[in-house]
Amino acid sequence: MTSPNRIETPLQLGPIEQRLDGIVPDVERAILEPLIADIERLKVERNAVVLAHNYMTPDIFHGVADLRGDSLQLAQVASETDADVIVMAGVHFMAETAKITNPDKTVLISDTRAGCSLAESITAADVRLLKERYPGVPVVTYVNTSAEVKAESDICCTSSNAVQIVESLDSDRVIFIPDQYLGRWVASQTDVEIILWEGSCEVHERFTANELRGYRETHPGVQIIAHPECPPDVLAEADFVGSTSGMINFVKREIPRQVVMVTECSMSDNVAVEAPDTEFVRPCNLCPHMKRITLEGIRTALETMQHEVTVDPEIATRARQSIDRMLAVGAPVGTH
Ligand code: 13P
Ligand code: SF4
Repeated sequence: MTSPNRIETPLQLGPIEQRLDGIVPDVERAILEPLIADIERLKVERNAVVLAHNYMTPDIFHGVADLRGDSLQLAQVASETDADVIVMAGVHFMAETAKITNPDKTVLISDTRAGCSLAESITAADVRLLKERYPGVPVVTYVNTSAEVKAESDICCTSSNAVQIVESLDSDRVIFIPDQYLGRWVASQTDVEIILWEGSCEVHERFTANELRGYRETHPGVQIIAHPECPPDVLAEADFVGSTSGMINFVKREIPRQVVMVTECSMSDNVAVEAPDTEFVRPCNLCPHMKRITLEGIRTALETMQHEVTVDPEIATRARQSIDRMLAVGAPVGTH
């Protein structure tokens, strides 16, 4: 399938000694480059690819990622790669999605503790109760959820296609789980009634509108771009709202003089490398789960072939239907 949000694949990774040039200090390069060399050798031996989320640190993002993007792009490319082994440089639900769309491939995550506060906020039993309470109302599930929750759902969405997915269902109301703030953002963009769940992202809920107003005072003319997992009063202060890749595309397209990316802080580090004409004002809220993924961990995962991500086949079949329905709808670049 094709979509304007497609990832460009695979990345043309240059010589190892140039990948981190100007990205990390020379003293760190001396430590990181041998690690990258080991990972490259192991990737060839295992016929493996590294899929990296936009929140990975620059050494991973620019050093070893074969494919990189937001959750939707990772789900799309995971369903199409020819590699035998997928190493997910992201959190557990992303690795699970890759496994669900690739039941015959080996999917590895280097640290099983790389979870997500949204995924932990809801269980399959909760979804069954919601369906009993609202019979016949379709369940739209953000991909930041477990395979079991996806299996109970009608369709998945990501932050880059949530409005489009909700509107694709031809229903006056939908159950939207589990991110209350993304749900509220969607509700502000559509006439469809949204029944919310009270989940939230521990990283994005920490931003405040006051903080953003402060940036406007100290940096007149600054562009503020925000992820829709932020609370509504924060989004109201933003010039643009979009998924992680929607935000990256905004910077590449608009080339703002100064920008604040209201999201996990490695994003600014990664994009700054490719946007030399933009100054990044960097609030730093780290995702502790994403930060569990390291170059050392990726090397160990490829050496030991651990930790393999598995999904019960019956759950995977039902979860895949929700993911495939989402992929069939396609996706715009970010939300406005
Ligand atoms: P994206 O789909 O926008 O990459 O978001 C994933 C995520 O976990 C944001 O916190
Ligand atoms: Fe989950 Fe938030 Fe971390 Fe994204 S940033 S993985 S939503 S906890």
